[in-house]
Amino acid sequence: MSQSNHEAHLGKFEALERKNAEALLGGGQARIDAQHKKGKLTARERIDLLMDEGSFEEIGKFVMHRSKDFGLDKEYYLGDGVVTGYGTVNGRLVYVFSQDFTVFGGSLSETHAEKIVKIMDLAMKNGAPVIGLNDSGGARIQEGVVSLGGYADIFYKNTLASGVVPQLSAVMGPCAGGAVYSPAITDFILMVEDTSYMFVTGPNVVKTVTHENVTSEELGGASTHSAKSGVTHFSCANEVVCINNIKQLLSYMPQNCEETAPALPYSPEGDELRPELNNIIPENPNQPYDIRDVIHGVIDAGSFLEVHQNFAENIVVGFARLGGRSIGIVGNQPAVLAGVLDINASTKAARFVRFCDAFNIPLLVLEDVPGFLPGTDQEWRGIITNGAKLLYAFCEATVPRITVITRKAYGGAYDVMNSKHIGADMNYAWPTAEIAVMGAKGAAEIIFKREIAQAEDPETKLQEKVDEYQQKFATPYRAAHRGFVDEVIVPAQTRQKLIRALKMLENKVDTMPRKKHGNIPL
Ligand code: HXC
Repeated sequence: MSQSNHEAHLGKFEALERKNAEALLGGGQARIDAQHKKGKLTARERIDLLMDEGSFEEIGKFVMHRSKDFGLDKEYYLGDGVVTGYGTVNGRLVYVFSQDFTVFGGSLSETHAEKIVKIMDLAMKNGAPVIGLNDSGGARIQEGVVSLGGYADIFYKNTLASGVVPQLSAVMGPCAGGAVYSPAITDFILMVEDTSYMFVTGPNVVKTVTHENVTSEELGGASTHSAKSGVTHFSCANEVVCINNIKQLLSYMPQNCEETAPALPYSPEGDELRPELNNIIPENPNQPYDIRDVIHGVIDAGSFLEVHQNFAENIVVGFARLGGRSIGIVGNQPAVLAGVLDINASTKAARFVRFCDAFNIPLLVLEDVPGFLPGTDQEWRGIITNGAKLLYAFCEATVPRITVITRKAYGGAYDVMNSKHIGADMNYAWPTAEIAVMGAKGAAEIIFKREIAQAEDPETKLQEKVDEYQQKFATPYRAAHRGFVDEVIVPAQTRQKLIRALKMLENKVDTMPRKKHGNIPL
């Protein structure tokens, strides 16, 4: 009986099979070939690379556009230019949308937008990250304002989801006009070199309005946005690297704001002492060194994923593991501009700190900062407002927060860089730390100005006063006497101390005063 029922329905089952096969072809083989020719993968190939094998479940495979204007009544594609659904990455649930450039250039129609919104709603209700693989000619031109409305629906959901679930955006093709604002609201942007670009207006409009001649790549390619604007956090050599970066990023994150990131098993490596750290700080306090050497000396081997590597290189931020636990690191970089804080460094670090705080990732700050960058350029562009962002971000962070002062902690930057005063939990200093209002020479020139001017030999007097100031203040001990530094440690002990402190802070509970939301200086 059931056998004959099956036979009776065979035609319908075959029709379904045909529809499924049609949907898999997107805009057709010729357009798939054209996509490959550009060195790009298709929407489905990207999903296959991202998801654990066989785990992807598609939602809305047969959705089609509704508009009938400008020939749209004659051309239909199943799925309407975006593949959406859920699956697992390294065993953990994620939601994904992947725009299909072979269907109307991946352009966003009303229904295309609805599909994206649907998985974002599911992601928020079920507490799992959303990954967007963007490859789109922008608003579906034939649909007019309906398409713009679709974009706005997505922006709105991006904003509601911000801080609730991690949102990652890979830009793997064009992303122009208002379309850029969805990735911009998400937590991390990854761009693929040579095949992707993002801009508010393209080179033609730029030429008309400002008379500048510029290529798409120069205006908004991965190299531009990773180094000049900081719009993208990762510049990836190709799509495979991009997808692998997404997987690695996810590994440091919890599924949502109510959870903590998964820890890897950790078995202590002996005494955890790292003697090589004793050798990093140069004898001359003005000589640079690479803060990454400190990072690698402290963290679990090979666990550092640097974020914004080519932007504002005077500060280094990224994820790592310490004793198996996921942490966010912010380190001043003495090898670039002496590690000074400027506008870009402040905004870069502030955004990273806020992400870590939103998703319960403890913060480790490695501090060697001579202060804020002086000059008209910085002042006129608002170093005050922008520097305040970093200050604000640290002040409001309630995750476990640890600071290690390796060398300089001068002036306002001392306060800003996760000082005890603004809520850091454990602050360590190396014996090489210099914690003062400013460098010894500047300080001596100001406070002993008259004495130096009146001296028989002003040069010798200045040096005498510099030495005096240096001895008194260019050490960690004044701060340690006050308890502003919890412990002065030998660099080799740093990893051991940090692992223990992180464990001690594991169950930290801290809250901000009740409010609608704060007003971070934007
Ligand atoms: C409908 C589109 C489309 C769009 C591309 N196509 N963009 N269809 N709406 N926005 C179609 C093309 O007609 C073509 O169809 C196919 O997609 C591939 O496009 P090509 O031009 O052949 O590809 P390529 O040479 O690679 O150029 C890609 C492109 C270009 C640079 C993206 O297509 C382009 O400039 N498109 C228009 C971009 C744009 O102005 N969008 C609106 C921006 S404003 P066939 O049938 O030939 O395969 C915007 C506002 C958002 O997005 C506002 C949010 C608030």
